[in-house]
Amino acid sequence: MPNASPHVSIVAPTFNEARNVAELARRLDAVLTGVDWEIIFVDDDSPDGTARAVKELAARDSRVRCIRRVKRRGLSGACIEGILSSSAPICVVMDADLQHDETILPEMIARLDRDEADIVVGSRLVEGGSSSDGLTAPRLFASNFAIRVAGLLVGAGVSDLTSGFFAVKREKFESMAPKLTTSGFKILLDVLASAAPPLRASEVGYRFRSRLEGASKFDLRAMSDFVGLVVHKATGGVVPPRFVMFVAVGGLGVVLHLAALRLAMDSAGAGFTEAQSFATIAAMTFNFFVNNSLTYSDSKLKGWRAALGLAQFYAVCGVGAVANVGIASWMFNMNEAWWLAALAGVVMGSVWNYTMSSLFVWRGAE
Ligand code: GDD
Ligand code: MN
Repeated sequence: MPNASPHVSIVAPTFNEARNVAELARRLDAVLTGVDWEIIFVDDDSPDGTARAVKELAARDSRVRCIRRVKRRGLSGACIEGILSSSAPICVVMDADLQHDETILPEMIARLDRDEADIVVGSRLVEGGSSSDGLTAPRLFASNFAIRVAGLLVGAGVSDLTSGFFAVKREKFESMAPKLTTSGFKILLDVLASAAPPLRASEVGYRFRSRLEGASKFDLRAMSDFVGLVVHKATGGVVPPRFVMFVAVGGLGVVLHLAALRLAMDSAGAGFTEAQSFATIAAMTFNFFVNNSLTYSDSKLKGWRAALGLAQFYAVCGVGAVANVGIASWMFNMNEAWWLAALAGVVMGSVWNYTMSSLFVWRGAE
Protein backbone atom coordinates (compact mmCIF):
# COMPACT_ATOMS: atom_id res chain seq x y z
CA MET A 1 0.00 0.00 0.00
CA PRO A 2 1.29 3.47 -0.80
CA ASN A 3 1.45 5.91 2.10
CA ALA A 4 -1.69 7.91 2.87
CA SER A 5 -1.54 11.70 3.15
CA PRO A 6 -0.35 12.90 6.56
CA HIS A 7 -2.70 14.03 9.33
CA VAL A 8 -1.19 17.52 9.58
CA SER A 9 0.38 19.81 6.97
CA ILE A 10 2.47 22.64 8.41
CA VAL A 11 2.59 25.51 5.91
CA ALA A 12 5.57 27.81 6.42
CA PRO A 13 5.88 30.84 4.11
CA THR A 14 9.49 31.86 3.52
CA PHE A 15 11.35 34.83 2.19
CA ASN A 16 15.08 34.77 2.90
CA GLU A 17 14.92 32.14 5.63
CA ALA A 18 17.64 29.77 4.34
CA ARG A 19 19.32 29.77 7.74
CA ASN A 20 16.13 28.83 9.62
CA VAL A 21 14.48 26.04 7.64
CA ALA A 22 16.56 23.07 8.82
CA GLU A 23 16.19 24.09 12.44
CA LEU A 24 12.41 24.43 12.08
CA ALA A 25 12.11 20.92 10.59
CA ARG A 26 14.30 19.58 13.40
CA ARG A 27 12.12 21.21 16.07
CA LEU A 28 8.92 19.89 14.50
CA ASP A 29 10.39 16.40 14.47
CA ALA A 30 11.17 16.71 18.16
CA VAL A 31 7.77 18.03 19.23
CA LEU A 32 5.35 16.18 16.92
CA THR A 33 5.97 12.66 18.14
CA GLY A 34 3.09 10.35 17.36
CA VAL A 35 1.62 12.74 14.78
CA ASP A 36 1.83 12.02 11.07
CA TRP A 37 2.97 15.39 9.68
CA GLU A 38 4.62 17.12 6.74
CA ILE A 39 6.01 20.60 6.28
CA ILE A 40 5.35 22.61 3.14
CA PHE A 41 7.67 25.57 2.71
CA VAL A 42 6.23 28.11 0.29
CA ASP A 43 9.11 30.22 -0.95
CA ASP A 44 8.85 33.30 -3.16
CA ASP A 45 12.12 32.60 -4.94
CA SER A 46 14.22 34.10 -2.13
CA PRO A 47 17.59 35.42 -3.33
CA ASP A 48 19.31 33.75 -0.37
CA GLY A 49 18.57 30.28 -1.80
CA THR A 50 15.87 29.24 0.69
CA ALA A 51 14.22 26.94 -1.86
CA ARG A 52 17.53 25.20 -2.52
CA ALA A 53 18.08 24.70 1.21
CA VAL A 54 14.57 23.23 1.56
CA LYS A 55 15.06 20.84 -1.34
CA GLU A 56 18.34 19.63 0.15
CA LEU A 57 16.39 18.81 3.32
CA ALA A 58 13.63 17.18 1.31
CA ALA A 59 16.14 14.90 -0.41
CA ARG A 60 16.79 13.34 3.01
CA ASP A 61 13.32 13.67 4.57
CA SER A 62 10.15 13.02 2.56
CA ARG A 63 8.06 14.93 5.13
CA VAL A 64 9.64 18.13 3.79
CA ARG A 65 8.10 19.70 0.68
CA CYS A 66 8.82 22.90 -1.20
CA ILE A 67 6.64 25.12 -3.35
CA ARG A 68 8.87 27.59 -5.16
CA ARG A 69 6.84 30.49 -6.56
CA VAL A 70 8.47 32.73 -9.12
CA LYS A 71 7.75 36.38 -9.87
CA ARG A 72 5.36 36.61 -6.96
CA ARG A 73 5.42 38.05 -3.48
CA GLY A 74 2.95 37.98 -0.65
CA LEU A 75 2.71 36.26 2.69
CA SER A 76 -1.04 35.59 2.57
CA GLY A 77 -0.93 34.25 -0.98
CA ALA A 78 1.93 31.92 -0.08
CA CYS A 79 -0.03 30.52 2.88
CA ILE A 80 -3.15 30.04 0.76
CA GLU A 81 -1.25 28.13 -1.92
CA GLY A 82 0.45 25.96 0.66
CA ILE A 83 -2.85 24.98 2.29
CA LEU A 84 -4.50 24.35 -1.07
CA SER A 85 -1.67 21.99 -2.00
CA SER A 86 -2.36 19.88 1.09
CA SER A 87 -4.60 16.81 1.39
CA ALA A 88 -4.29 16.53 5.16
CA PRO A 89 -7.38 17.10 7.33
CA ILE A 90 -5.52 19.69 9.42
CA CYS A 91 -3.36 22.57 8.17
CA VAL A 92 -1.15 24.80 10.30
CA VAL A 93 0.20 28.17 9.21
CA MET A 94 3.42 29.04 10.97
CA ASP A 95 6.31 31.47 10.36
CA ALA A 96 9.56 29.83 9.30
CA ASP A 97 11.77 32.14 11.36
CA LEU A 98 11.35 30.27 14.68
CA GLN A 99 9.47 33.18 16.32
CA HIS A 100 6.38 31.00 16.73
CA ASP A 101 6.58 28.50 19.57
CA GLU A 102 6.26 25.02 18.10
CA THR A 103 5.71 23.42 21.52
CA ILE A 104 2.03 24.47 21.53
CA LEU A 105 1.36 22.57 18.28
CA PRO A 106 0.25 19.30 19.93
CA GLU A 107 -2.38 21.20 21.95
CA MET A 108 -3.58 23.13 18.86
CA ILE A 109 -3.93 19.90 16.88
CA ALA A 110 -5.60 18.04 19.75
CA ARG A 111 -8.36 20.67 20.00
CA LEU A 112 -9.20 20.21 16.32
CA ASP A 113 -9.06 16.43 16.69
CA ARG A 114 -11.51 16.59 19.59
CA ASP A 115 -13.67 18.85 17.43
CA GLU A 116 -13.66 21.63 20.03
CA ALA A 117 -13.04 24.21 17.31
CA ASP A 118 -12.63 24.73 13.55
CA ILE A 119 -9.61 26.97 14.00
CA VAL A 120 -7.10 27.21 16.84
CA VAL A 121 -5.03 30.38 17.01
CA GLY A 122 -1.60 30.70 18.60
CA SER A 123 -2.11 33.88 20.61
CA ARG A 124 0.23 36.36 22.23
CA LEU A 125 -2.65 37.92 24.13
CA VAL A 126 -4.26 35.17 26.19
CA GLU A 127 -2.88 33.60 29.32
CA GLY A 128 0.56 32.15 28.71
CA GLY A 129 1.08 34.46 25.74
CA SER A 130 3.34 37.47 25.18
CA SER A 131 5.05 39.34 22.41
CA SER A 132 7.35 41.74 24.19
CA ASP A 133 10.42 39.63 23.37
CA GLY A 134 9.93 39.60 19.64
CA LEU A 135 8.54 43.07 18.90
CA THR A 136 9.95 46.58 19.18
CA ALA A 137 7.84 49.12 21.12
CA PRO A 138 6.32 50.85 18.03
CA ARG A 139 5.54 47.46 16.49
CA LEU A 140 3.88 46.36 19.72
CA PHE A 141 1.77 49.53 19.79
CA ALA A 142 0.79 49.20 16.11
CA SER A 143 0.00 45.54 16.56
CA ASN A 144 -2.23 46.13 19.59
CA PHE A 145 -3.99 49.01 17.85
CA ALA A 146 -4.65 46.94 14.73
CA ILE A 147 -5.95 44.08 16.82
CA ARG A 148 -8.34 46.36 18.67
CA VAL A 149 -9.81 47.84 15.47
CA ALA A 150 -10.08 44.44 13.84
CA GLY A 151 -11.76 43.02 16.94
CA LEU A 152 -14.66 45.46 16.48
CA LEU A 153 -15.26 43.77 13.16
CA VAL A 154 -14.97 40.09 13.68
CA GLY A 155 -15.96 39.40 17.23
CA ALA A 156 -15.06 35.78 16.66
CA GLY A 157 -13.68 35.36 20.15
CA VAL A 158 -10.11 35.63 18.92
CA SER A 159 -7.99 38.22 20.70
CA ASP A 160 -4.81 38.02 18.59
CA LEU A 161 -6.25 38.82 15.17
CA THR A 162 -2.92 39.62 13.52
CA SER A 163 -1.42 36.29 14.51
CA GLY A 164 0.31 34.44 11.70
CA PHE A 165 0.13 31.19 13.68
CA PHE A 166 -2.99 29.01 13.53
CA ALA A 167 -4.29 25.51 12.85
CA VAL A 168 -7.44 25.07 10.78
CA LYS A 169 -9.56 22.25 9.39
CA ARG A 170 -8.63 22.09 5.74
CA GLU A 171 -12.20 21.48 4.59
CA LYS A 172 -13.36 24.74 6.19
CA PHE A 173 -10.48 26.62 4.63
CA GLU A 174 -11.04 25.19 1.16
CA SER A 175 -14.62 26.41 1.03
CA MET A 176 -13.64 30.07 1.65
CA ALA A 177 -10.35 30.12 -0.27
CA PRO A 178 -11.74 31.89 -3.36
CA LYS A 179 -12.81 34.84 -1.19
CA LEU A 180 -9.40 35.53 0.34
CA THR A 181 -6.99 38.28 -0.70
CA THR A 182 -3.44 37.25 -1.51
CA SER A 183 -1.39 40.30 -0.54
CA GLY A 184 -0.04 41.25 2.85
CA PHE A 185 0.07 39.83 6.35
CA LYS A 186 -3.61 39.63 7.23
CA ILE A 187 -4.60 36.06 6.45
CA LEU A 188 -6.11 35.22 9.84
CA LEU A 189 -8.39 38.27 9.91
CA ASP A 190 -9.39 37.52 6.34
CA VAL A 191 -10.16 33.87 7.14
CA LEU A 192 -12.28 34.78 10.17
CA ALA A 193 -14.12 37.56 8.34
CA SER A 194 -14.74 35.48 5.20
CA ALA A 195 -16.10 32.32 6.84
CA ALA A 196 -19.83 31.76 6.52
CA PRO A 197 -21.06 30.42 8.86
CA PRO A 198 -18.42 31.78 11.26
CA LEU A 199 -15.66 29.43 12.40
CA ARG A 200 -15.64 28.12 15.92
CA ALA A 201 -12.38 29.55 17.23
CA SER A 202 -10.17 28.85 20.20
CA GLU A 203 -6.77 30.19 21.32
CA VAL A 204 -3.62 28.81 22.85
CA GLY A 205 -1.15 31.26 24.43
CA TYR A 206 2.50 31.36 23.46
CA ARG A 207 5.50 33.63 23.80
CA PHE A 208 6.49 35.31 20.55
CA ARG A 209 10.26 34.83 20.42
CA SER A 210 12.83 37.24 19.06
CA ARG A 211 14.29 36.54 15.67
CA LEU A 212 17.77 35.02 15.63
CA GLU A 213 18.52 34.93 11.90
CA GLY A 214 17.40 37.22 9.05
CA ALA A 215 15.07 40.24 9.15
CA SER A 216 11.33 40.98 9.41
CA LYS A 217 9.41 41.85 6.24
CA PHE A 218 6.56 43.55 8.08
CA ASP A 219 6.52 47.20 6.98
CA LEU A 220 4.39 50.31 6.53
CA ARG A 221 2.86 48.64 3.50
CA ALA A 222 1.80 45.54 5.47
CA MET A 223 0.29 47.81 8.08
CA SER A 224 -1.71 49.95 5.61
CA ASP A 225 -2.81 46.80 3.85
CA PHE A 226 -4.29 45.57 7.08
CA VAL A 227 -6.19 48.82 7.66
CA GLY A 228 -7.50 48.60 4.09
CA LEU A 229 -8.89 45.13 4.69
CA VAL A 230 -10.56 46.22 7.94
CA VAL A 231 -12.40 49.06 6.16
CA HIS A 232 -13.25 46.75 3.24
CA LYS A 233 -14.89 44.22 5.58
CA ALA A 234 -16.50 46.91 7.76
CA THR A 235 -18.30 48.35 4.73
CA GLY A 236 -19.58 44.94 3.72
CA GLY A 237 -17.12 44.76 0.82
CA VAL A 238 -18.26 48.03 -0.79
CA VAL A 239 -15.04 50.01 -0.36
CA PRO A 240 -12.06 48.29 -2.05
CA PRO A 241 -9.07 47.89 0.34
CA ARG A 242 -6.81 49.80 -2.02
CA PHE A 243 -9.17 52.79 -2.18
CA VAL A 244 -8.64 53.42 1.54
CA MET A 245 -4.91 53.77 0.96
CA PHE A 246 -5.47 55.89 -2.14
CA VAL A 247 -7.66 58.33 -0.22
CA ALA A 248 -5.21 58.48 2.70
CA VAL A 249 -2.42 59.36 0.27
CA GLY A 250 -4.72 61.93 -1.33
CA GLY A 251 -5.29 63.49 2.10
CA LEU A 252 -1.53 63.83 2.59
CA GLY A 253 -1.38 65.38 -0.87
CA VAL A 254 -3.85 68.08 0.19
CA VAL A 255 -1.67 68.97 3.18
CA LEU A 256 1.38 69.13 0.93
CA HIS A 257 -0.56 71.23 -1.57
CA LEU A 258 -1.43 73.84 1.03
CA ALA A 259 2.14 73.94 2.35
CA ALA A 260 3.57 74.33 -1.16
CA LEU A 261 1.05 77.09 -1.93
CA ARG A 262 2.01 79.05 1.20
CA LEU A 263 5.68 78.59 0.49
CA ALA A 264 5.42 79.72 -3.12
CA MET A 265 3.43 82.85 -2.20
CA ASP A 266 5.36 83.83 0.93
CA SER A 267 8.95 82.92 0.19
CA ALA A 268 9.03 83.00 -3.59
CA GLY A 269 6.60 85.90 -3.90
CA ALA A 270 4.57 84.13 -6.58
CA GLY A 271 1.06 85.29 -7.51
CA PHE A 272 -1.87 83.07 -6.55
CA THR A 273 -2.37 81.47 -9.95
CA GLU A 274 1.30 80.61 -10.38
CA ALA A 275 1.56 79.37 -6.81
CA GLN A 276 -1.60 77.28 -7.16
CA SER A 277 -0.28 75.70 -10.37
CA PHE A 278 3.03 74.91 -8.71
CA ALA A 279 1.30 73.41 -5.64
CA THR A 280 -1.02 71.30 -7.83
CA ILE A 281 1.87 69.78 -9.75
CA ALA A 282 3.85 69.20 -6.55
CA ALA A 283 0.91 67.43 -4.90
CA MET A 284 0.12 65.27 -7.94
CA THR A 285 3.77 64.27 -8.28
CA PHE A 286 3.96 63.41 -4.60
CA ASN A 287 0.74 61.38 -4.79
CA PHE A 288 1.97 59.50 -7.82
CA PHE A 289 5.21 58.38 -6.18
CA VAL A 290 3.63 57.46 -2.84
CA ASN A 291 0.86 55.52 -4.56
CA ASN A 292 3.44 53.83 -6.74
CA SER A 293 5.38 52.59 -3.70
CA LEU A 294 2.53 51.87 -1.29
CA THR A 295 -0.94 51.67 -2.81
CA TYR A 296 0.16 49.85 -5.94
CA SER A 297 3.42 48.34 -4.71
CA ASP A 298 2.44 44.99 -6.22
CA SER A 299 2.53 46.53 -9.68
CA LYS A 300 5.09 49.26 -9.08
CA LEU A 301 6.18 51.17 -12.19
CA LYS A 302 9.90 51.58 -12.75
CA GLY A 303 12.14 53.51 -15.18
CA TRP A 304 10.45 54.89 -18.29
CA ARG A 305 7.19 53.18 -17.31
CA ALA A 306 7.16 55.36 -14.20
CA ALA A 307 7.66 58.48 -16.34
CA LEU A 308 4.80 57.44 -18.61
CA GLY A 309 2.68 56.55 -15.56
CA LEU A 310 3.31 59.99 -14.07
CA ALA A 311 2.11 61.66 -17.27
CA GLN A 312 -1.01 59.47 -17.30
CA PHE A 313 -1.60 60.24 -13.63
CA TYR A 314 -1.47 64.01 -14.36
CA ALA A 315 -4.06 63.47 -17.09
CA VAL A 316 -6.32 61.34 -14.88
CA CYS A 317 -6.16 63.88 -12.03
CA GLY A 318 -6.75 66.75 -14.44
CA VAL A 319 -9.99 65.21 -15.63
CA GLY A 320 -10.78 64.29 -12.00
CA ALA A 321 -10.49 67.96 -11.04
CA VAL A 322 -12.89 68.94 -13.82
CA ALA A 323 -15.35 66.26 -12.64
CA ASN A 324 -14.96 67.49 -9.07
CA VAL A 325 -15.71 71.13 -9.95
CA GLY A 326 -18.50 70.08 -12.33
CA ILE A 327 -20.50 68.03 -9.85
CA ALA A 328 -19.89 70.53 -7.03
CA SER A 329 -21.12 73.50 -9.12
CA TRP A 330 -24.12 71.53 -10.31
CA MET A 331 -25.13 70.64 -6.76
CA PHE A 332 -24.48 74.19 -5.57
CA ASN A 333 -26.77 75.50 -8.31
CA MET A 334 -29.40 73.00 -7.21
CA ASN A 335 -29.37 74.92 -3.89
CA GLU A 336 -27.52 72.29 -1.88
CA ALA A 337 -25.39 73.49 1.05
CA TRP A 338 -21.94 74.70 -0.07
CA TRP A 339 -20.12 72.10 2.06
CA LEU A 340 -22.28 69.25 0.77
CA ALA A 341 -21.66 70.36 -2.80
CA ALA A 342 -17.92 70.58 -2.15
CA LEU A 343 -17.88 67.17 -0.46
CA ALA A 344 -19.75 65.57 -3.36
CA GLY A 345 -17.14 67.05 -5.68
CA VAL A 346 -14.28 65.63 -3.63
CA VAL A 347 -15.90 62.17 -3.47
CA MET A 348 -16.58 62.22 -7.18
CA GLY A 349 -13.01 63.32 -7.94
CA SER A 350 -11.50 60.65 -5.66
CA VAL A 351 -13.60 57.84 -7.08
CA TRP A 352 -12.74 58.96 -10.59
CA ASN A 353 -9.00 59.25 -9.88
CA TYR A 354 -8.94 55.88 -8.17
CA THR A 355 -10.90 54.03 -10.83
CA MET A 356 -9.00 55.52 -13.74
CA SER A 357 -5.61 55.07 -12.04
CA SER A 358 -6.35 51.40 -11.38
CA LEU A 359 -7.52 50.91 -14.96
CA PHE A 360 -4.88 52.87 -16.86
CA VAL A 361 -1.89 53.88 -14.78
CA TRP A 362 -1.24 50.75 -12.67
CA ARG A 363 -2.78 48.25 -15.03
CA GLY A 364 -1.24 45.16 -13.43
CA ALA A 365 -3.05 45.69 -10.10
CA GLU A 366 -5.44 42.89 -9.10
N1 GDD B 1 6.50 33.31 0.69
C1 GDD B 1 6.60 34.48 1.35
N2 GDD B 1 6.38 35.64 0.65
N3 GDD B 1 6.90 34.50 2.65
C2 GDD B 1 7.01 35.69 3.27
C3 GDD B 1 6.81 36.93 2.61
C4 GDD B 1 6.47 36.88 1.22
O1 GDD B 1 6.28 37.88 0.55
N4 GDD B 1 6.98 37.94 3.52
C5 GDD B 1 7.28 37.34 4.69
N5 GDD B 1 7.32 35.99 4.55
C6 GDD B 1 7.58 34.96 5.59
C7 GDD B 1 8.85 35.17 6.38
O2 GDD B 1 9.97 34.55 5.76
C8 GDD B 1 8.48 34.51 7.71
O3 GDD B 1 8.67 33.11 7.67
C9 GDD B 1 7.00 34.81 7.85
O4 GDD B 1 6.53 35.03 6.52
C10 GDD B 1 6.71 36.04 8.73
O5 GDD B 1 7.40 37.16 8.21
P1 GDD B 1 8.22 38.16 9.14
O6 GDD B 1 8.79 39.18 8.25
O7 GDD B 1 9.15 37.40 10.05
O8 GDD B 1 7.04 38.78 9.99
P2 GDD B 1 7.07 39.37 11.47
O9 GDD B 1 7.76 38.46 12.40
O10 GDD B 1 7.55 40.77 11.38
O11 GDD B 1 5.49 39.40 11.74
C11 GDD B 1 4.85 38.48 12.59
O12 GDD B 1 3.89 39.16 13.32
C12 GDD B 1 2.80 39.68 12.56
C13 GDD B 1 1.84 40.41 13.43
O13 GDD B 1 2.43 41.37 14.21
C14 GDD B 1 4.22 37.34 11.80
O14 GDD B 1 3.80 36.32 12.70
C15 GDD B 1 3.04 37.77 11.00
O15 GDD B 1 2.40 36.60 10.44
C16 GDD B 1 2.07 38.53 11.87
O16 GDD B 1 1.01 39.04 11.09
MN1 MN C 1 9.06 37.01 12.06
